[in-house]
Amino acid sequence: MNASLRRIGVVGGGQMGAGIAEVCARAGLDTVVCEADATAADAARDRVTASLARAVGKGKLDRASAEAALARLVFTGSLDDLADRHLVIEAVVENPDVKTEIFAALDKIVEDPEAILVTNTSSIPVMRLGMATRRADRVIGLHFFNPVPVLPLVEVVASLHTAPETVTAVEDFAATLGKTVVRSRDRAGFVVNALLIPYLLSAVRMAESGFATAADVDAGMELGCAHPMGPLKLADLIGLDTVASIAESLYEEFKEPLYAPPPLLQRMVQAGLLGRKTGRGFHTYV
Ligand code: CAA
Repeated sequence: MNASLRRIGVVGGGQMGAGIAEVCARAGLDTVVCEADATAADAARDRVTASLARAVGKGKLDRASAEAALARLVFTGSLDDLADRHLVIEAVVENPDVKTEIFAALDKIVEDPEAILVTNTSSIPVMRLGMATRRADRVIGLHFFNPVPVLPLVEVVASLHTAPETVTAVEDFAATLGKTVVRSRDRAGFVVNALLIPYLLSAVRMAESGFATAADVDAGMELGCAHPMGPLKLADLIGLDTVASIAESLYEEFKEPLYAPPPLLQRMVQAGLLGRKTGRGFHTYV
C-alpha cells in the first residue's frame, strides 16, 4: 500500500460507514469515524462493536484481533477531527446535496493537500462531488457492498478529473482491505447497481401488481436461482430509501422507464417502512 495512507477518516457511521470503518480497523489502520453528533457517534460505535462480535461468533476473527480493531477506532461528532487524515471516505445518505456539502467542508478541513477524498456513493456522479472541492484530481469513488465486512468487492470510479496516481493509491488501499476491485466509468449506478437496481424494481412491481407475493418472489430467486437472498429481502437489507434514491439517480441519468421507482416503493419510503433498519419493509424483522 501507499505507506502515506495510514490515517483514515469515515464520514457517516450507518450500516455502510460502520462496515467500512470496521474493515479499515481490521486491516490495521488508524480510523476516525465522524457522525452528525455524539449520540449518533455512540450508535456507530455500537454497530461496529456488534459486527465485530458477530465475526468472532462466526469464527472469522479472534477476540484479541477484534479488541485491537476497536482500539484503532475513534468515534466523533465533529468533522474537524478529520483534519489530519490522509484518506477520508464519505458514506452518508444517498443525497447529492448532502454529499456535495460534505465534500466542500472536507476540502477545507482536511489539511494535507495530497489527502484523498473518497465517496461511497452508489449512483451520484463522482465529478459532481469532485467539483465541490479544489482538488477534483484527488476525489474518487470507492463503492463498497453491504454487508461490507463480508462482501469482497469494491468498485473504483474515477471522474474525468481524477488523477491516475489517485486511482493507483486507492486500488492499493482496497487491496490492503482485502477487497477485489472492478473499475467503472463515472455513470450512475456504475457496474453493479446498473444491473441490480432494475432487477429489484422489477420484483417490487411484481409484488405491487399482485403477480406474486413478496415471499414467493424471494423464494423463487433463492430456491430457483440459488441467490443468497431474494430481491425484496435484499431491497430491505439495502434500505428502501437507498434503493429509491439510486433508482432516481439512474432514471435522471438514463431516462429509461425500467429505472423509475415504482409507486409502491415511494409510498413505503414516505411511510417510513425502510426495511431492516426500521423493522419493516417487504418483510417484518424483530
Ligand atoms: N465479518 C466477517 N465475516 C462475516 C461477518 C463479519 N462481521 N458476519 C458474517 N460473516 C461471514 C460468515 O462467517 C459467513 O461465512 P461462511 O459462508 O464462510 O461461513 C458469511 O459471512 C455469511 O454470513 P452468515 O452465515 O451470518 O449469514 P447468511 O449466510 O445468512 O448470509 C448475507 C447473509 C451475507 C447477507 C447473504 O445473505 C448475502 O450475501 N446476501 C446478498 C447481499 C448482497 O447482495 N449485497 C449487495 C447489496 S448491493 C450494495 O450493497 C450496493 C448498493 O449500492 C446498494
